[in-house]
Amino acid sequence: MVKRKTCVFISGKGTNLKNLISQSRDSSFPIIISLVISNNKKADGLKFAKKYKIPNICISTNNRLYENEILLNLKKYNITFICLAGYMKIISNKLIKKYQKKIINIHPSLLPKFKGLNTFAKMIKNKEKKAGCTVHYVNEKLDGGNNIIQKIFFTKSDDNELKLKTKTQKLEYRAFPEAIIKIFRYF
Ligand code: GRF
Repeated sequence: MVKRKTCVFISGKGTNLKNLISQSRDSSFPIIISLVISNNKKADGLKFAKKYKIPNICISTNNRLYENEILLNLKKYNITFICLAGYMKIISNKLIKKYQKKIINIHPSLLPKFKGLNTFAKMIKNKEKKAGCTVHYVNEKLDGGNNIIQKIFFTKSDDNELKLKTKTQKLEYRAFPEAIIKIFRYF
């Protein structure tokens, strides 16, 4: 099986990156992580890329030419698939057009509910009975592309933001790999 060369974009802790790296070491998993891009040079997740000797670069979006720098690096490493795993920046339309249907994102809510930031605070305020995560294609609209997979759990009355986050992330570590397997199952 030819594994798709994949770039994972991160901004922070990178626990989903860590999980994807470990999944991708399985020979039957459809992707290989060939590049990690962070917009934040202090992102904890970069340590996972370093540990597994995966090329990693920090491209600050403050730099006027950051979009070109991203595209150049994706080309340099022959990237054909992109996973956004806690990347806190909007992806440019140019990149989305170039990688149509080849960019996916993980979001900590049951989309279309609770797009954007502060998901758990919004959920608590709304007294949501159900929570979960969504893996979806990325298009020009914020958290707006078609869903690939969702995982759901029922909330409890004593759930606070931290508890919701912990339970959601546990599901994310299953949802992201499953979504990738689902996408490439007929390739
Ligand atoms: C995840 O909860 C994901 O849903 C959201 O950002 C978080 C990233 O966590 N988009 P990590 O950096 O993978 O630990």
